[in-house]
Amino acid sequence: MKEIWDNRHRKSIGRYNRITEFANFCFLNYLKGKQGKLLDLACGKGADSVFLHENGFTVTAIDYSSEAINQFNYIQRKKGVFITSLVRDIQEKLPFETDSFDYVFSRIGLGYFDDKTTKKIFSEIKRVLKSEGLLMFQVKSVNDRVYGSGKELEKDVYELSGYIRHFFSEDYARKLLKDFNIIYLEEKKLDNGNAYLDVIAEKK
Ligand SMILES: C[S@@+](CC[C@H](N)C(=O)[O-])C[C@H]1O[C@@H](n2cnc3c(N)ncnc32)[C@H](O)[C@@H]1O
Repeated sequence: MKEIWDNRHRKSIGRYNRITEFANFCFLNYLKGKQGKLLDLACGKGADSVFLHENGFTVTAIDYSSEAINQFNYIQRKKGVFITSLVRDIQEKLPFETDSFDYVFSRIGLGYFDDKTTKKIFSEIKRVLKSEGLLMFQVKSVNDRVYGSGKELEKDVYELSGYIRHFFSEDYARKLLKDFNIIYLEEKKLDNGNAYLDVIAEKK
């Protein structure tokens, strides 16, 4: 999967460099006027990280695609900003102290893993988040147009050409977030058939 992502990022050089709707939604509703340490998991080329940095957050960004992080660093140099950006696989233990972030953000970064790995990632997110810290994430939902394409590996997890997708149901998200207070959990269906689950939750 890492090679697939490196290739995708290489082919889309110069694109996906604008703040996403989800980051804007999080900012306007939950982050405006706030400050603190924010971790962006699976940041891609870092457009949302740059936006959040420019709005006063101390951002650390992680992606396992070195191609994505190289492009992110190039954009940073051009803009004259410095954001800690690391090439890391989020399936591994996160390289941070316990209780070290006020916010964890991930746009379409947490839906590539089987159930066991997903649970491990959420337990790591909980570990690095401070108490009452906010987790904000967007994933593809079970009502997405490509749900069911490819080989079913386990419930709601499909593999197509070496690419694994885990589609979240509301029920699954709620179960993952048993140690969080869910503040917002909504499915968003677009006209093109894409369907997302947007979630904001506070660590208990
Ligand atoms: C759809 S892109 C989203 C990028 C960015 N968050 C955005 O919204 O533009 C998914 C990203 O997840 C990254 N990714 C996938 N699996 C990962 C893993 N195990 N560890 C770290 N990053 C991963 C990919 O390299 C890719 O950049």
